[in-house]
Amino acid sequence: MSDPTNRLAPVVRLAPAKLNLTLAIVGPRPDGYHALHSVVVPLGLTDRLSFAPATGGRDTLHVAGRDAGPIAENLVLHAIAATRRAVGTRSPGPAGTPPPLAVRLEKRIPVAAGLGGGSSDAAAAIDGALEAWGAELEPAERLALAIGLGSDVPFFLAGGPALIEGRGERVTSLAPLRGEPPGVLLVTPAVAVRTPDVFAAWASGIRPPGACAARASSEHLAAELRAGLSGTDLVRRSAVLAAANDLLSATLALVPELVAFRRALARLLGRPIGQSGSGPTCLVLYPSLVEAAAAADLVREALGAGRLPRLGMDDPAIEPTTIAAGPGAKAASDSTMIREE
Ligand code: C5P
Repeated sequence: MSDPTNRLAPVVRLAPAKLNLTLAIVGPRPDGYHALHSVVVPLGLTDRLSFAPATGGRDTLHVAGRDAGPIAENLVLHAIAATRRAVGTRSPGPAGTPPPLAVRLEKRIPVAAGLGGGSSDAAAAIDGALEAWGAELEPAERLALAIGLGSDVPFFLAGGPALIEGRGERVTSLAPLRGEPPGVLLVTPAVAVRTPDVFAAWASGIRPPGACAARASSEHLAAELRAGLSGTDLVRRSAVLAAANDLLSATLALVPELVAFRRALARLLGRPIGQSGSGPTCLVLYPSLVEAAAAADLVREALGAGRLPRLGMDDPAIEPTTIAAGPGAKAASDSTMIREE
């Protein structure tokens, strides 16, 4: 039998960041997680992963760009190991096990930011490893793998705008926005916010006033996207969307300096400031990438001139990008875990 590494084709995957346009917490679950109702979209900002045969007998990961933390804890390696176990002896390798992979990760998405970068890398690693090995898994097996790696991973396996429910495993594809893709400015202050701490703060009672307001906004937006919403109309809803995150008050309680930072950013840009996921990323919607990029310049200038408070040890990450359409419908059609509207 031939050397299995000869069969490995070079494989490249782009792993997009995500935004929670809405994030409503429906309630706690018996498993300790929380049931969500969240409209999530992929962004043009991506990490890049490439997969090649590894020579040393084990999977390796090299990270370039942003600091992604300890390599051994990186979800990419966990995703490849879990995928290998799931594929098991179905692979054609002589030892019955898919061969080791050398992965290079170019990290562009800010880390621990509420942008789903680690989860997106994990989904890309499942997909990339399967392609590199020439192996397949049933959609239900992929879903089990994905949710085992993290609550956001199933969204990224699906690929397009979606309504997320349950813990994150119920992914219903929504229609991409019509017309020009809206611009998004992401400003991620250099402060650590641990997602479990934010959910715990919410569970301890730190919640926005007006019970169910985020849920109502989330249901409304999901219905509008199902019916077909333009990017322009989405941007018009910026103020409502900025308030439609049930975790925001919990994040602000954990990092009180964020309150002044967000206020200064709102004054500077004159637009509503949202938060993706559990934060701390501040997000601002614009009609186009050009306008988001101009706003990024304003933020850089203001930081240089001391007109924005400095949080943490580093400057914030400032990333102008767009809402991406994503493969949506295609991914949905070859996956039973995705319910198409
Ligand atoms: O699934 P993941 O590891 O990404 O979740 C990180 C943490 O966020 C969990 O340990 C849990 O505290 C919280 N979480 C939650 N409900 C969800 C998703 C995450 O409570 N639906």
